[in-house]
Amino acid sequence: MNYQNPRIAKVADLLTSRFETLQNKSEILKAVELRALFGEIPTLAPEERGAFGKEINELRKVLEQLVESYREQAEALPPIDVTAPFDVNAAKRPELLPASQGTQHPLMRERQHVLDIFYRMGFTAEESRELDDDWHMFSSLNFPEGHPARDDYDTFMTEETDANGKRLIAPAHTSTMQNRVLQKYKANLVQGKPIAVVVPDRVFRNEDLDARHEHTFYQCEGVYVAKGVHAGMLIATLKTFLEEYYQKDLDIKTQPFYFPFTEPSFEFALSCPFCDKKGCNICSYSGWIELLGCGMIHPNVLKMAGIDPEVYTGFAWGGGIERLVMMKHGIEDIRHFESGKLEFLRQFK
Ligand code: DAH
Repeated sequence: MNYQNPRIAKVADLLTSRFETLQNKSEILKAVELRALFGEIPTLAPEERGAFGKEINELRKVLEQLVESYREQAEALPPIDVTAPFDVNAAKRPELLPASQGTQHPLMRERQHVLDIFYRMGFTAEESRELDDDWHMFSSLNFPEGHPARDDYDTFMTEETDANGKRLIAPAHTSTMQNRVLQKYKANLVQGKPIAVVVPDRVFRNEDLDARHEHTFYQCEGVYVAKGVHAGMLIATLKTFLEEYYQKDLDIKTQPFYFPFTEPSFEFALSCPFCDKKGCNICSYSGWIELLGCGMIHPNVLKMAGIDPEVYTGFAWGGGIERLVMMKHGIEDIRHFESGKLEFLRQFK
């Protein structure tokens, strides 16, 4: 609002900034400066009174609107129940824990530890997503439409669909990031550098829950691409990581497996870090722990990211982080992690 009269313009500025500081907003309408302006009217020459009076009325209207819209906003907020969430009749209210007793969740601490090791091995990290599309979950990973292996993933889907009419998916593995990572870092290859990325993030599966299965858990995906990469490098990378993580020498073995996005594909097992192959309840008395899936990245997966599989080859792996941690600390039930139980969490201070 532009006021012609400089005195009114000055009072308008003054009162609008004072309005911000007032506790009781409607007091602005009683401001002495405003009253003084009204008081001036009879002292003015008759021909000036009309325009002057009109502008002060204008100013009062603006101030009234400010008060009104503030009131509306305040009323739109729900009242706060200051007694919640306590039972007001209970003799003793639950106490807040002092912040000094807070600790990092064991899973987050171990995830950071996993990342630190991979950083030291030359890998960089990328985050995954909590909602993804069918193309990244399946097609970009060489699962053709209608392929039965799509059913192995027990995916949670939303009712909303993507631009292709396919339902969105809560990612069931961190491999959904492979195509994005390959695209993002493929310029490395031209510069003679590898693509070396890990994705340690949350995944979701519609599973029956038991001591070894959770609907929400963490996986660490790894992708490595360069010229002349072979399966021996894959095995050496994983063995080095695991020996660093468990701080001991381990034996490893691979068995042929099937994943649409790797060829050849393997299931990777390590000697039980708990009993050193003697047999214990952690390894079901077999001496070995099957830990993750891995393999050489399928040429189709590289091609879909615009990388020539005749020139570059690579390996990938993916495995659950909880299992690593459970073995390290002798945790018998995966459900403890998301339980929020202090008896569990306090053991990891
Ligand atoms: N995404 C697979 C799963 O969750 C694990 C996996 C296997 C990841 C082989 C890979 C791989 O990158 O190469 O079952």
